[in-house]
Order: sequence, then structure tokens, then C-alpha cells
Amino acid sequence: MTHSADLPRSTRGAVYQDLVARLRAGGIASAELDARLLIGAAAGIDDIALIADPDALVPGEARAAIERFSERRLSGEPVSRILGTREFWGLPFLLNEQTLDPRPDSETLVEAVLRHVPDTGAPLKLLDLGTGTGCLLLALLSELPNAHGHGVDYAPQAVAAAGANADALGLLARATFTLGDWGDGLAGPFDVVISNPPYIVSAEIETLSPEVRLHDPMKALDGGDDGLNAYRAIAQETARLLAPGGMAFWELGIGQMEDVSLIAQSAGLEVLGADPDLAGISRILRVRRCK
Ligand SMILES: C[S@@+](CC[C@H](N)C(=O)[O-])C[C@H]1O[C@@H](n2cnc3c(N)ncnc32)[C@H](O)[C@@H]1O
Repeated sequence: MTHSADLPRSTRGAVYQDLVARLRAGGIASAELDARLLIGAAAGIDDIALIADPDALVPGEARAAIERFSERRLSGEPVSRILGTREFWGLPFLLNEQTLDPRPDSETLVEAVLRHVPDTGAPLKLLDLGTGTGCLLLALLSELPNAHGHGVDYAPQAVAAAGANADALGLLARATFTLGDWGDGLAGPFDVVISNPPYIVSAEIETLSPEVRLHDPMKALDGGDDGLNAYRAIAQETARLLAPGGMAFWELGIGQMEDVSLIAQSAGLEVLGADPDLAGISRILRVRRCK
């Protein structure tokens, strides 16, 4: 371990250049961004301060923290796990070992709900099945001023993180979270049901990058032998809990649209369509309860 007293006096600019070079040499493609985030967190400064005042000295404590962060990053730990926080929909979310690290692709679900809900000022009731950090539900509540939401997860620390995130974002008055197995024990009706369930085929998990495989919780990833186990459960629960005419939005893995549409139809739901992500992949299935 490096002690702060052992480190030479260094400026922000020099510490940044050095960290970028080391991360690049370690094969990290996002070296510049990662270095800015790690130095910013260690030194308590933002991007602007790093660039605007490159000659300022970085205190010894901060340099020691940067050393520890860089070792963890070079061993494959994602920046969000090192810092314990991730930005999603422009909002900060605390993570812990039982929460998925929210993915930029999942912002497509937030956009889809905002695009398709007829009246964003209505007092909507939202349900989030498998809430993790609460990122989807809380991003929506930040945009839907009169909506209330409930999030469920069967990982206790995910429920705790979602509650803490709601509190930090000033949304606790409109958000509740409980521990549970999908919709078990819940009573509807809900106007909107959202879910980003585990959808990776079990046998494919070992092919995922170490950043995902070793740092995201397995229960947030593993969708069973065909990747579709969770959809079978949430389709039944969605059909039971959705208000007549209400809509559900489920995130899909690549190539799952047809199979998940069939699962929805067998549960008595009408498939309305799929919204693409930025890469043009059908990412969000939109279904409705017909009667
Ligand atoms: C892919 S993660 C999504 C987390 C979060 N909604 C997001 O988009 O970042 C799936 C979540 O479903 C939860 N989960 C898995 N099985 C569950 C079950 N039977 N009941 C409730 N939650 C479950 C996991 O703990 C995990 O938080």
C-alpha cells in the first residue's frame, strides 16, 4: 500500500496525466473519463476545477486515495462500484453489492413511459418490479409531478438503497419500496407497471465481461436456462395488477422481443409495440391490459 507521505508533491494536471497514462496502459478504454471521476471524488473537486486550475496541488490524503482507486480500477472494478454511485437520467444513485449498476440503455424505458403515457400531469400509480437502486421509478417520479410509485425487490440491500436514493432525491413522499417476490402480496390497480428483469441466459453469464460478471449481483442478471424466467412471472403479475387500459413497459435483452411478446399474450396482455434504444435494438416492450 502507498502512504500519502511517500508520494511526491503533485499538481492536479500531473496527477491527471499520470493516471490517464496508467489506465490506458492497463487497457481501459475510458481512461480520461475514469481519471476525471476518480480524481474528482478523491480530491473533492469537479471537472471544471480540474481543468481550470491544473497547477493547484493535490493534497497527500487525496493522492493516497487516488492510488487506491487506480489499483481497484486496474484490477477491473468499474468506477461506479469504486465510488458507490452512478448517474442515471442526470440524477445520482447510490449502489451497493445487491444492486445492479444502472445502465444507460435503461434510460430508454424512462423515455418510453414519458412518450406513451397520455397525461404526464395525471396522478398516476406506478409499480416497479425488481427496482434495484430505484433508478427507473425515481427517474420517472422526477418527471411526473403528481405520480406515486412503489418499487419491489427481493434483495434487502436493494430495497434499502432505493429508499435512501428516494430520500436523497427528495422523492420519499411519493415513493415506497418493499421486499418481495415480484408482485406477491401487492394489490393493484396500477396505471403503469415497469420492469427491467434479469434476462441473461444462465449459460452466457460466464461470457460477460469481468466488470459485469464479477461486480453486478448474479440475481440481477440470471434469467434462467432461456433468459425468460422472470418475464413469465412478471407477465402474470402485470396482468393481475394493471388497471384496465393501463400500460406496462419491460426492458428486453437483445433478440427477446418475439418470445417475450408471446409470454405477454399468453398472460392475456395486448402487445402494443417495442421502442428501440440508441443502437436501434428493440429494447422496451410495451403492453396493455385490454379489459
Ligand atoms: C436487471 S436488475 C434491474 C434493477 C433496476 N431496475 C435497474 O434497471 O437498474 C433486476 C432486479 O430484479 C430483482 N429481482 C430478481 N428476481 C426478483 C424477484 N423474484 N422478485 C423481486 N425482484 C427480483 C434483482 O434483485 C434486481 O434488483
